[in-house]
Amino acid sequence: HKHLLGIEGLSPAEIERLLDLANHYADLPKDDTTARALLRGRTVMNVFFEASTRTQTSFELAAKRLGADVTNMSVSTSSIKKGETLLDTAMTLNAMRPDVMVVRHGDSGAVNLLSQKVDGAVINAGDGRHEHPTQALLDALTIRRRLGRLQGLLVAICGDILHSRVARSNIHLLTKMGVRVRVIAPTTLLSSGIERMGVEVFTDMRKGLKDVDIVMMLRLQLERMQGAYVPSIREYFHFFGLDYDKLSLAKPNALIMHPGPMNRGVEIDSEVADDINRSVIREQVEMGVAVRMACLDALTRNLRGGN
Ligand code: CP
Repeated sequence: HKHLLGIEGLSPAEIERLLDLANHYADLPKDDTTARALLRGRTVMNVFFEASTRTQTSFELAAKRLGADVTNMSVSTSSIKKGETLLDTAMTLNAMRPDVMVVRHGDSGAVNLLSQKVDGAVINAGDGRHEHPTQALLDALTIRRRLGRLQGLLVAICGDILHSRVARSNIHLLTKMGVRVRVIAPTTLLSSGIERMGVEVFTDMRKGLKDVDIVMMLRLQLERMQGAYVPSIREYFHFFGLDYDKLSLAKPNALIMHPGPMNRGVEIDSEVADDINRSVIREQVEMGVAVRMACLDALTRNLRGGN
């Protein structure tokens, strides 16, 4: 593949190869000299039309740990503020000859459109409600390193499924890798036809959490709910917030995951989020750098002579 636009277009073998490569980078010292030489002379541009802490920082670190030149563009400090369009912005940056553009945008499909216009490789860093492929890869790597496998596990993805590109990428990845996936949400926050993605749907969190190996919580994306049903926070936490009482229905050592940013006390109880033994939220962030190194390495291989 020239670009990484989503998990949907990847085969299980391709996912496995990316996870193996990311696992290699996860165990490498951050100043490894061989890694630091890999993308020397290459240019990686982070182009973020939406806010980010984890994804943008980890792509920057990943590119630097591979020796690339890196630039960061955020919408708040760019000429988009002066009215420049998505495609004009993309073509302007393209004229500076990046090898890879890492793009986040609020509209589903915007990254795909941009990938058809620029010369280098494009990595989707999250587009609207569509996909966030590197998030699903880092989640899978975190699970694999903790539990030793993916095949045969039972995962519950809970919360605002409707607005979640993280949920969509994770559903694609986990089902391809032989994981049984449940989604748990109020009916108003479920995407229509989600069953067709090969998941079991629950609107009762207690039933949905029964015997799962992993509980993956999602943020309530209030910024994407203009004019739609907006639940009361207190009611939402009562029925769909992860606390120790609801967690007791899952397997005894079930892992707790959250892609971040978290809203403590909305979708997850603060103590559960900080559970030293079971919460792997910090490991997810740590794996983010390794996964992004793997994606940058894999997508630039053809530029480096295919080895
Ligand atoms: N999980 C995630 O994508 O976080 P950011 O929005 O901070 O990048």
